[in-house]
Amino acid sequence: MKKIAVITSGGDAPGMNAALRAVVRKGIYCGYQVCGIQRGFTGLLNGNPVIDFELGSVADIIQRGGTFLLTARAPEMFQTEFQIKAAERLKSESVDSLVVIGGEGSFMGAMTLEKQGIRTACIPGTIDNDINGTDQTIGFDTAVNTILDAINRLRDTATSHERVFLLEVMGRQTGYLALTAGLAGGAESIVVPEMDYDLSQICSRIMQGIKRQKTHSIIIVAEGAANIYEMNEAIKKQIEVETRITVLGHIQRGGSPSAVDRLLGSRMGAAAVDWLAEGKSGFFTALRGQEIVPVALDGCFADRKPFPEELYRLAMILSR
Ligand code: F6P
Repeated sequence: MKKIAVITSGGDAPGMNAALRAVVRKGIYCGYQVCGIQRGFTGLLNGNPVIDFELGSVADIIQRGGTFLLTARAPEMFQTEFQIKAAERLKSESVDSLVVIGGEGSFMGAMTLEKQGIRTACIPGTIDNDINGTDQTIGFDTAVNTILDAINRLRDTATSHERVFLLEVMGRQTGYLALTAGLAGGAESIVVPEMDYDLSQICSRIMQGIKRQKTHSIIIVAEGAANIYEMNEAIKKQIEVETRITVLGHIQRGGSPSAVDRLLGSRMGAAAVDWLAEGKSGFFTALRGQEIVPVALDGCFADRKPFPEELYRLAMILSR
C-alpha cells in the first residue's frame, strides 16, 4: 500500500486541522496508508516517530485552531545536508509522498525534497495570505475576522473618549491582513510594507475627520511597515490628538477557524490527495476564483504576490 506522510510547518493557521483531516480521510478513502510527523521538518530531522492515522485519528479537530500535529520553523532546511537527511528519513519510512501544510518557507523546504526524489504536494496555510498564485491561504479569513472584532471593540472605546487608535497587526513583509481588515473595518489609514506612507497625510486625514465631527480614528499598521511607537510619537508631534496603541500579536493567529477556512482546508486537503493519486508532484493547491487548481511549486517564488493597490485606494476613499 502506498504511504502519504503529512506535516504542518511554519506559523500555525486556523483551518490547518481541517486540511489535515481532509488529507487523512481522503487518503484512506483512496486506499493510501496515511501517517503524520509532529513538528514539521524539525520533527522529521530529529527522528520524531511516524504516527499512523486511522479515520478516528482526526476526529474532533475541524473546529480547532492551531495544528494538532504541532509545528516549527526549520531554517536548517535551507542547507543541502539537512535536505538530504530529511529525504533519507522519509525513504527509510517507506513514504511515497509528502504533503506539507504551511507558508512560503515550508513550500521551499518541500521543493528541496522534491529535488531529492520525494513526491510532494503543498497546501497554503498562513494567516499572511502572501503566497503568489493562490487568491487565498488557509487561516487568512479567520485572522481578518479576529482583527475586525478587535477594531469593533476599539471603536467603542475610541469613540467614547474621542481618541485616535493605532492598531498593529501581523505581516512582516506583507500587508494583506492590514489592508483587508482595514477596508472591512473602515480604518482611516492603513500602513503596509508594500506601499510608502506619508505621515502628514495620515495626520491630515485625522484632522479632516475631526472637522466633520468624527469621534475617533483607527490607523492599522502592519508590523513590518513601521514602528508603531515611533509613528505614535511622530503623529503627536504634528497634531494635537490623544492616541493609544494596541498590538494584537498572536491573538490574531489563534481561534476556531471560520467556515471559509474550514471549507478551504477541506477542499485543498482532498485535492492534494487526488492529484498525488493521479501521479502529480511538486505542486501546491491554489484557489483561483471558486476553483481549486494545482500550481507548480517553483512558479510561486519567481515573483511576489501582487498587492491589490485598487483595494487600498478604495479603502482610502471610503474612510474619509
Ligand atoms: O505565520 C506568519 C506570521 O504570523 C507573520 O505574520 C508574523 O510576522 C510571524 O508569523 C510571527 O512568527 P512567530 O510566531 O514565529 O513569532
